Amino acid sequence: MSDQEAPALRVRGLYKFQRERSREVAILKDISFELPRGRFLAIMGPSGSGKTTLLHLLGGLETPSAGAVEIDGKDLAGLGERKRALLRREAVGFVFQFFHLVPNLSVRENVALPLRIRGQSGRSVVERVDALLAQFGLVAQADLLPPQLSGGEMQRVGVARAVIGEPKLLLADEPTGNLATGQGEEVLRWLRRLHAEHGQSIVLVTHNPRDAAYADEVRFLVDGALLAEPRLTGADVDAAKIHACLRDLKI
Ligand SMILES: Nc1ncnc2c1ncn2[C@@H]1O[C@H](COP(=O)(O)OP(=O)(O)OP(=O)(O)O)[C@@H](O)[C@H]1O
Ligand SMILES: [Mg+2]
Repeated sequence: MSDQEAPALRVRGLYKFQRERSREVAILKDISFELPRGRFLAIMGPSGSGKTTLLHLLGGLETPSAGAVEIDGKDLAGLGERKRALLRREAVGFVFQFFHLVPNLSVRENVALPLRIRGQSGRSVVERVDALLAQFGLVAQADLLPPQLSGGEMQRVGVARAVIGEPKLLLADEPTGNLATGQGEEVLRWLRRLHAEHGQSIVLVTHNPRDAAYADEVRFLVDGALLAEPRLTGADVDAAKIHACLRDLKI
């Protein structure tokens, strides 16, 4: 059952420990925040600060050592493995740093994959895929295989695949990390448009100030802790102010 009032995401007291030789190391420490529906949040942090780990916990790809994640009012830990997998499939879209496309499936088939996994087929899937390919400027590439694409095209396929199932929550891990600047900006503009036109709730993790400047809100992750301050919102979200925060934080 979907809770109409619930935020897209609610995170409370999240910890992740990993064993390193004989001791436990905290990779994420006491992370709590809420993502209201329709918000575009960027979390910035240097390499090794825990960004990917956090995103995996938010999307239920890994389980936290302590604390809770609720997506759309549903507590992931309370769901059990089967229902959690179902929620992940239905409610969460992932954009991966290294694209993670299936190399021997065409662009069209890659984009259709989330719907196929849900058991959908036929005319409605084809129409939905064609509409998204048009929206993402991928019509000419529809029958190509991923190795034949440019980096920017691959990541646009990644974004199209992440949103085809109309997920409540879109999680993007350094989506421009492996792209040339122009291609990266293009991918971010698509995310921004999904957010502006469809009210897509988004968490973007990145170390790139230019990427973070597309969000509504920018927060900082340092050594596994989400800082209460600084926190940029509204007109304060711009590349110069983000740079100034990073300088102050010495990251
Ligand atoms: N399975 C694991 N076992 C042990 N340590 C791990 C494991 N996964 C991640 N780490 C460590 O946790 C820390 C955070 O890793 P994570 O990949 O989340 O960082 P990140 O912010 O995404 O970095 P990058 O910007 O380089 O992608 C790193 O020090 C990493 O070495
Ligand atoms: Mg990472």
